[in-house]
This record gives sequence, C-alpha cells and structure tokens, in this order.
Amino acid sequence: MINEGVVNVSYIIATILFILALGGLSNQETARRGNWYGIIGMAIALLATVLSENVTANYGYLILALLVGGTVGIILARRVQMTQMPELVAILHSLVGAAAVAVGFANFMGHGSGFSGIEKTIHDIETYVGILIGAITFAGSVIAFGKLSGRIGGKPLTLPARHWLNLVLLLGAIWFGREFVQQSAAGGGMEPLIIMTVIALLFGIHMVMAIGGADMPVVVSMLNSYSGWAASATGFMLGNDLLIVTGALVGSSGAILSYIMCRAMNRKFLSVIAGGFGTGGGSSAGGSAEEQGEVVPIDTQEAAALLSGAKEVMIIPGYGMAVAQAQHTVYEITKALRAKKVNVRFGIHPVAGRMPGHMNVLLAEAKVPYDIVFEMDEINEDFPDVDVSVVIGANDIVNPSALTDPDSPIAGMPVLECWKGETTIVLKRSMATGYAGVQNPLFFKENTRMLFGDAKETLDEVLKAL
Ligand code: TAP
Repeated sequence: MINEGVVNVSYIIATILFILALGGLSNQETARRGNWYGIIGMAIALLATVLSENVTANYGYLILALLVGGTVGIILARRVQMTQMPELVAILHSLVGAAAVAVGFANFMGHGSGFSGIEKTIHDIETYVGILIGAITFAGSVIAFGKLSGRIGGKPLTLPARHWLNLVLLLGAIWFGREFVQQSAAGGGMEPLIIMTVIALLFGIHMVMAIGGADMPVVVSMLNSYSGWAASATGFMLGNDLLIVTGALVGSSGAILSYIMCRAMNRKFLSVIAGGFGTGGGSSAGGSAEEQGEVVPIDTQEAAALLSGAKEVMIIPGYGMAVAQAQHTVYEITKALRAKKVNVRFGIHPVAGRMPGHMNVLLAEAKVPYDIVFEMDEINEDFPDVDVSVVIGANDIVNPSALTDPDSPIAGMPVLECWKGETTIVLKRSMATGYAGVQNPLFFKENTRMLFGDAKETLDEVLKAL
C-alpha cells in the first residue's frame, strides 16, 4: 500500500514518460525508444493505482480483471496479422469508449455520490459528457472495425436529410443533458441518461456509416482522438489526474493526426465528418478495365532487366506489400540494386496502407535505412528524373484520376505522380481496384508495365534474376 504523495509522484513520472513516448513516436529513429517510455509509463501508472490507498478491497476482482485483460491483450497481439492492425486499433478504441460508458453509469449509480450543490452539478455534467463521448466512440469504432475488416461495405450511407438528422440528435443530447442535471438534483436522472446513451450510439453509427471508404484514414485518426477525450472525461468523473492528462495527450495527438490526414487527402475536416465522400465509383475512373484500354504485362526477367538498366529507381509501397509481406524481399532487391550503383529511393504516401505510418513500420521492420525513405512531398517533383518506379501493391495512391476526375471518390487527393517517370512497373495480382473501389488509368498508360502475381512471389523471382 502506498500513500497519496507517492501515487502523485508516480503519476507525474508516468505523465512525463507518456510525453516522451509521443515525442519519440514522431520520428522513426526514436520510435522504439518512444514505445519503451510508453510501456514503462503505463506500468508505473498501473502499479501506483493498484497499490494506492484508494483501493482498499476487492483485490481479487482487480487481479482477475488484470489477468483476463492482460491475457486477451497478449493473445491478440501475438495473433494479429500486420494487415489486421487497423481493425485491431479500431476495436481497441471501441473498448475505451465502452469503458467510459461503464464507468459513467457506475459512477452515477452511487460510487461518485457525496457531492452537493454546484459540485454535484459539475460532477453530473462530467458524467454526462463522459458517457456521451464514450458511446459515440464505442459505436463509431465498432462500425469502423466493420468497414476496415470488410464486414461492412465501404460505400457511404447517405440518408436523406442526414445533416438535419445529426442536428436533431445533437439538440436531443443537449436537451436530455439539461433534463438529466435537473432530475439528478432531485435524486433521479437515469431515464435521460439512458436515452442520451441511445442517441449517442445512433450518432456514432450514423457518423461513421456516412463516411466513404476513401476517407477512412481520417476516421481512424478521429476515433483515436475521441477515445482520448473519452478517457479524459472518465478521469474527470473519477477525479484521476493521470487519466485526464493521458486522455488529453491521446485526444490532442489524435486531433493533430486527423488534421495531417485531412491535409494528405486534401479534405476539409468538417466535410469528412459530414460524410458523403467516397461514393465508391460511378465516375469515368470507375469504369471497367475493358473501357480503359490495353495493359502491357511483363514477366519477372523483363522487370529485372528494366531495374538493372536504371540509374534512378523509386519504390512505391502500398497495402499489397503488407498483404504479401514482401518488405524483406524489397530490401534485398534494394541492396542488390545499390550494389550495381543504382540510386534506390522509397516514396511514401501519407495514406498508403490501412493506418497512418503503415509503410514506415513495414520498411523499418525490414531494416530499410531511413535516409532513403521519403515522404510524398519530398520526392513528388523528382519523378521526371526517375528511370523506373516500382509500385508494389499500391493503387489509389498512384491513381492519376484523383487529379483529373472531379467525380472520383478520391478527387483532389494528392498522389505519387510516377507516370511522369520513364517506366512504371506495377505489381499486383489482378486488375482489381484498390480500397476506394475505382479503376486506375495508370495501368493503361503507355509507359506502364504490369507484373501480375503475389508481390512476395514475383519479387523473389526478380531478386533471383538480378
Ligand atoms: P489500395 O488502393 O488498397 O491498393 C492495394 C493494391 O494492392 C490492390 O490494388 C491489390 O490489387 C494489391 N494487392 C493486394 N494484395 C496483394 C498481394 N498479395 N500482392 C500484390 N498486390 C496485392 O492501397 P494503397 O494504394 O496503399 O492506398 C491506400 C488506400 O487505403 C487509400 O484509398 C486510403 O484512403 C485507404 N485507407 C488508408 C488508411 C490509412 S490511415 N493509411 C486507412 C483506411 C483506408 P490485387 O487485388 O489485384 O492484387
């Protein structure tokens, strides 16, 4: 058992470690260290809380809950495929939301009593807001999980008068909030609290259902932010400073990430939230492969010859590289080409893959040096000087129609303009579309060569040929 002073000092140390963790995660070289800061900070926070004087009984339940939660976490982390990470993140966000709702109701049903007057009103508002954000986060994250895992279609649900519906739900939540505070002062309040929870759940479902597939990156980071605010609200309910600070850190970094994602996709945050983007085709770019013309397939020998003859090579990885787990072979090829004095660089689109930083994580895992990995903005102007671009399982992020077709679901999104180089080799298994569901005119360009097959298998062959 440790006293309040020690708990507070531990919380301050944990807070500093969390800030250092976020700082570390902003850069690839320091990301590993950042993770360690976070792990140590969380261990200190958990220990200090469990051993604090506030926890006087029910140690059995606490240990049981830690064991169950810890075991499920370890099993999930060991089993999850790299391609399922975004879904896992989404479902974990939903748990934060569900926890905020559960704590809110538990708090209201007696554990947070002992307040009176204005203090009680403030506490009631904290509880109400905590449950509200928690329920939106929970429902929104479950739908995001469904969309990312393909259980729910990517097409946005555009109900008639959907903006009015959102407005009515919002006004309803505010009105029931007033009712709740008034009734709670008189000893009641459960009814408006339950009604608001249902409203918040509907709002969360509707909000994410209305967002099109192409805009999912913004949703992922936005729900990340919401989960932080839900935790922060829980901190206010429980009077736990560490939870308030940690929640605010997650909430604000998620908000910054959402801003970065919006900028990467050239979208206004409010337009994404209002939904309706990413209609999943229907434009000229969404036409069938036959309408677009012929493609030029090549084999692995020809691809190796093109690469060997090049001086400047740009590798553009996408979601398919994660599916094929081709990152290690990609690095072997990079080494082989560099040995032949070919300058190899990597061009990373901010929304490549299915979660922010997805490609960077894979390349770091394969130990690709950071100094040859570039952000889109850094290298997009260099394509006219590139001899061969190798697009590995990427589609939407190299789709020229984003720049030319105003009706495309990805219209306006900056893309890697590889077609401006001499030759582009595209590795994919078929003529299937990417995440946004639109056909890609790049495949039909004169200077594009299609190398069909699983990226890992074809790259293994290319490596052999090199
Ligand atoms: P996509 O547009 O999804 O294209 C991936 C391509 O990889 C597909 O065309 C697929 O074609 C190919 N592929 C799949 N498995 C393969 C394998 N084993 N070997 C070779 N090719 C394979 O990916 P992208 O270009 O990276 O763009 C990302 C998209 O996801 C964007 O629309 C983005 O908005 C969205 N999104 C991103 C995020 C974040 S935060 N990054 C989150 C949610 C959604 P085949 O089936 O023909 O092989």
